[in-house]
Parts: sequence; structure tokens; C-alpha cells
Amino acid sequence: MRRFLLVLLLAPSCFAAPVESTLIANIPGRTSVNLSGSWRVIVDPFSNGQSAGIFRDEKPRSKGDRIEYSFDASPVMSVPGDWNTQRDQLMFYEGTVWYRRLFKYQKRSQTRAFIYFGAVNYRASVYLNGEKVGEHEGGFTAFNFEVTSLLRDGENSLVVEVNDTRRPDGVPAMKFDWWNYGGITRAVTLVEVPAVFVQDYWAQLARGSQNEISGWVQLNGAQAGQKVNFEIPEAGVRQALTADAAGRALIHVTAKLELWSPEHPKLYDVMIGTGEEKVHDQIGFRTIEVQGGKILLNGKPIFLRGISMHEEAPFRGGRAFSPEDAQTLLGWVKDLGCNFVRFAHYPHNENEVRLADRIGLLVWSEIPVYWDIAWSNPATLANAQAELRDMIARDHNRAAIALWSLSNETPVNPERVTFLKQLAQEARELDSTRLITCAMNHVDKTSPDLRTLSDPLGEVLDVLGINEYVGWYEGRPEDADKIGWKSVWSRPIIVSEFGGGASFGLHGDADERWTEEYQNNLYEHQLKMVERIPNLAGMTPWVLMDFRSPTRLLPGIQDYRNRKGLISDRGQRKLAFYRLQEFYRNLAASERASH
Ligand code: GCU
Repeated sequence: MRRFLLVLLLAPSCFAAPVESTLIANIPGRTSVNLSGSWRVIVDPFSNGQSAGIFRDEKPRSKGDRIEYSFDASPVMSVPGDWNTQRDQLMFYEGTVWYRRLFKYQKRSQTRAFIYFGAVNYRASVYLNGEKVGEHEGGFTAFNFEVTSLLRDGENSLVVEVNDTRRPDGVPAMKFDWWNYGGITRAVTLVEVPAVFVQDYWAQLARGSQNEISGWVQLNGAQAGQKVNFEIPEAGVRQALTADAAGRALIHVTAKLELWSPEHPKLYDVMIGTGEEKVHDQIGFRTIEVQGGKILLNGKPIFLRGISMHEEAPFRGGRAFSPEDAQTLLGWVKDLGCNFVRFAHYPHNENEVRLADRIGLLVWSEIPVYWDIAWSNPATLANAQAELRDMIARDHNRAAIALWSLSNETPVNPERVTFLKQLAQEARELDSTRLITCAMNHVDKTSPDLRTLSDPLGEVLDVLGINEYVGWYEGRPEDADKIGWKSVWSRPIIVSEFGGGASFGLHGDADERWTEEYQNNLYEHQLKMVERIPNLAGMTPWVLMDFRSPTRLLPGIQDYRNRKGLISDRGQRKLAFYRLQEFYRNLAASERASH
């Protein structure tokens, strides 16, 4: 009886506390071996590989042995990179692909090793030298596993089973308007750290303060009392911190700082370390808050001149991942006259976020709780919680990130409101300094010409994102001239989407669908309408560049691409690009004149 009672007391609900992220922060600032490059791959349409033991990467030991797979005899594929755009016959493939990378290693005492994945879409099972290391679900967040005890001196076999089949309980679920690019879509790194190491840290200005840096350092493997230094030499900060029994040391220091802004993206060299290691990062300090219907950056109202973008590689197509992809895409964003960018609809790669830090772009970062998902499924909630936690864990030191978005265009029902209110609360627990938002598309059409934002979700958001498609999905562009807007919430509003499709080079009358003139005319009328929205604090029209989507089927015009881009997938700028650019340049000029 007693044994039964013990089991009862330790029921799973006792462990319901939010799970801490195990992500190692700032991989670029670590000692590491880059495992990107050519990996051998086996396409496994019926997911047969588990039962065949593919993860053991075996070879026949005698001529009689039966082994029905061989990585050595299989073709290679590049990592990072989606499989869809690397092989024609995989463009529409959804299923399992096995990857293998051989690498040589020399073990050293007092050195621990972790395998870090920037992202794998959608589920990954990781094996090293035939032993299961771990699993991960979620196509756009990083993850790492310790492999110290599994590494061998000499040659090691790293095998990853990737499956990108969409699932009703997934995040996102079965339907979304982007290509389901599968694979190891971001870099893979073997990270080496000392026995006690700096796993993560958070250093940002305390909410509402312009000279108080608060945060923490999280050590891994430390005893209580372990010392750790936090330094910002240029700001004269040198703090000797002491970790508690959980390895956490608190940061609280005042300093005179040049504040980060899009016009002045000032980054400070920050060093954090114990005697064993010193982790170097570059961090900007700024405040972001709301006051009534305004967003304040460093205490001053700012209008966010933005654009939405997918993580779609310019020119070649497929998942973007490289510094060069980031340079091209964010270079276009800057050309457009933006100080803001919406990374839709999932966390983008770290190269983009760090570049935004450096060149001065504020960022809306979002988890893919997109359209309808399994709101009442605990596994779905746990998945969304993990994606939110890991999005914040990777980027919480990036000054560029201003808003965490919890969802896009989700239906108004009680289960969804409960689900997203839970996420909003957890986002604030994880990061008290940034603004919480969602892109919503529910409005009350109290009269044909009046739209009222009344989504109950507004109650828990700092900023309301609204997606509206007057002139494309509803009515004609000219209808926008008569439409007025209201909100039941006195919050800042960002128009997180408006737009229309155009095939680059297709010209005709302004009322001819798919011409550049139609798209340009739509922007003319939309820009006049959105300016009338009360508490408008920014906009991120849909979308920077044409992108692949399985829902866009019009031959000769869409050809499986969403054509609402201001720029074609070949880098060609449409008429509406110049219309929005002129609008933003005039806005920026009038702001400069008024200062
Ligand atoms: C939706 C959605 C986007 C989609 C866009 C469109 O609002 O948020 O992901 O691509 O509209 O229909 O083009």
C-alpha cells in the first residue's frame, strides 16, 4: 500500500513547472567544430529505418551479412539546407530522411561536448555511434544534447532521423501558407565547454530604466558559491558574481550607456566567464514599452516602418540560413526605408537576428501558432510552450527584438483564448522587458464601413497586430477609402498584414488582378486607410519577397508561389515596392523635421 501511495504523491502534476531551456547561448562565441557540409542521406518514405536499425550505421562484417541500407553508398546532401530544393524529386516530399555525418574527434579531460542544431524541420531523432542521444519537435527552434560520454577517439558517426510530416497536434498543424521545407535547415555544431561552463545569460536594461542592467548568468555543472565575472569594459562594468546552488548568479549594475536604436545600433562587447572560459558577446541596450496608444523606444514614441518576410532564400529559393541570405534580405528591408521587420511566422535563423542587431532593425519575432491548431491538446500546448521558451532563450540578448508574437490569425474561441493567455503569461515570466503581441484577423463589421478590433485576446497583449486584406480578399482597393477603424482596447496597433499579389513584369490596368498596377493601386488606397487607424504604431505589409507555398496554384502567375511580394523571388522590384518606399521615406523625413 505504501509503495502505491508514494507513486500517487509523485503524480506527473507535481512536475508541471515550466521546463527550463537547456539551450547553450551564443554558439558563435564558443569553441566549436562546424559539422555543416556534405552529409550522406537515405530517403525513407515508409519510415522503415528505425526497425532496420539505420541509426547503427552498420556495415556487413562478412559476405553473408544482410544489411539493407548503406550510408557509405548513399548520395550526399548539404547541411544546412532543406531537402526539397536540393533534389527535384524531393520538392513535394514529406516524410523521413536519414542523415549521417562522420567526424574525427580527440577527447580531452575536463572537456564536455554538446551537439547543437540551429533547427531541424520538423521532428529529429539524434544518434551518436549507434546510441540514442535525444529527440526534438519543432521546425524553427534550436536544441542541443550533451554527448561527452558517447564520443569516441577517432571516427564518430552522427545520425539524424528527420521527419517533416505535418500532424494535427503539431505547431504549426496541417495547413499553412508556406512551403514545408524539410531537413536539417540550419547549422550543426559540436560545442566544447569546460566541466563548469556558462550555459546561458541574460543582460538587458530593467524595464523602464535607461541605466540599470539586470539579468542573470546560468552556469552548468557549478557548485553553490562558484564565482563568475560579468564585464562590459567600454562601460566600465566589472562585476564578480556568485552562483547559487542552482548555478544562477544575478546581474544588477548601473552604467552610463549609449542606447541602441535603429539609427544608432550601438553594441557593447560583453564578457562573461569563470576562470575556465570567457564567453564574448555583443549586446545592445535599449528600452521598449507602451504608453497609451504609443510604442516608446528609449522613452520616445516611435512609428515602426516595417515589412513582413518569410525565411525564404532569395534567388535560389528554399530555406534561408546563411549570413549572405540575411545580408540580401535585410539589405532589401533597409532599402525599403524600414526601421522594423516582422520575421513571419516562426523564429528565423540567428544570422538574421544578429544582423538586425548590427544594422539597426527592430524585430517582431513569432512562434508558428498559425491558423487552427489542436487548442485542447496538452501535447500541442507543451510544444508551443517549448517553442516560445526556446525562441526567447536564443534571442533574449538581442536589442533588435522588440516584440514576441504568440500567434497568427487564430480563430476566436474559448480554447484558443485560454491557450494563448497561458503563453502570454509565460512569455512575460521569461522576459519582462519586451512587448507581447499576436497577429489577429478578427474584426467586428459593425457597419459595412466600420471595422472594430474586439478580439478578447487583446486583453492580455501589449500591442495588437491586425491582418486585413481590404482590396484583395475583400472588395476592391477603392473600398478602403470609405472604411474606418475602431478598437475596444486602448493599445498600440500594428497592421501586421495587408497586401495583394502581382506577377513581376505583368502590366495592365489598375483594376486588372495580378498586374503590378493592381498591387500598386491597392497600396495607394491601403496606405491612406491605415493612416486613419487610431493608435496606429506601425505596419508590416505582406510581404517583402514572393515565397513558395503549396496553396498557390494558378499556373503562369503563382506556380506554387505566393506573389504578394514587393520583390519577386528573382530579386526584381515591383511598382508597389517604390510606392511603399516613398511612403516610408516621407514619414522618416517628417519625423526628422519634427525633432
Ligand atoms: C494570411 C497569412 C499569411 C498568408 C497571407 C496571404 O493573412 O497570415 O501567412 O501568406 O495572409 O494570404 O497571402
